[in-house]
Amino acid sequence: MPRRKDEPGFSRRSFLKTVGAGGVAAGVLSQTSNVDAQAANVHGPGAVPISLNVNGQMVRLQVEPRVTLLDALRTRVTPPLTGAKRVCDRGACGACTMIADGKTIYACSTLAIEAQGRRIRTVESFTQGTVLHPVQQAFCDKDGLMCGFCTPGFVTSAVALLERTPKPTVEQARRALDGNICRCGTYVRVLEATLNPGTGGTRG
Ligand code: FES
Ligand code: FES
Repeated sequence: MPRRKDEPGFSRRSFLKTVGAGGVAAGVLSQTSNVDAQAANVHGPGAVPISLNVNGQMVRLQVEPRVTLLDALRTRVTPPLTGAKRVCDRGACGACTMIADGKTIYACSTLAIEAQGRRIRTVESFTQGTVLHPVQQAFCDKDGLMCGFCTPGFVTSAVALLERTPKPTVEQARRALDGNICRCGTYVRVLEATLNPGTGGTRG
């Protein structure tokens, strides 16, 4: 505990010793933070190499750290993965929904660089050859879409829910889909499709 100036035994010498020790400590601290700053992993602003695990494949890219996962997969991979849509680009509509380690994410609000090490799945991975995923088939059977722009996001949210909870309640389904917006207002049909996934069908 620091001694007060009016305590017996407090002298100019001890005061200087204390200030000296503090000065040394401050110097070490400032040196430490300089070293920390230099050692910190600073990325960008130019392109940096990243590796993403997308739909079970490792994808290596050179992207600027500011690039979102959505833009990286839509515009920087071959072939481009354009199933997830860029609509609001600010985490408000769900059109860009992807699955990362089993949980839905807004890919427009996730940097590609921070998606490294996560298992990313996009709507493109759901169809097996020409066989639709049961959720995709259910969207067709129940007329769960009009313009279809929101559909990949809804399908992805529904798939993530059913993988976690194969028989969801209406409330659980509503909650799982509440981050997705449909401007055409297909909510009732989307909910029906989510609660009654088919057994898969044939595309085309
Ligand atoms: S485009 Fe990502 S939430 Fe709207
Ligand atoms: S079907 Fe058109 S926005 Fe949903």
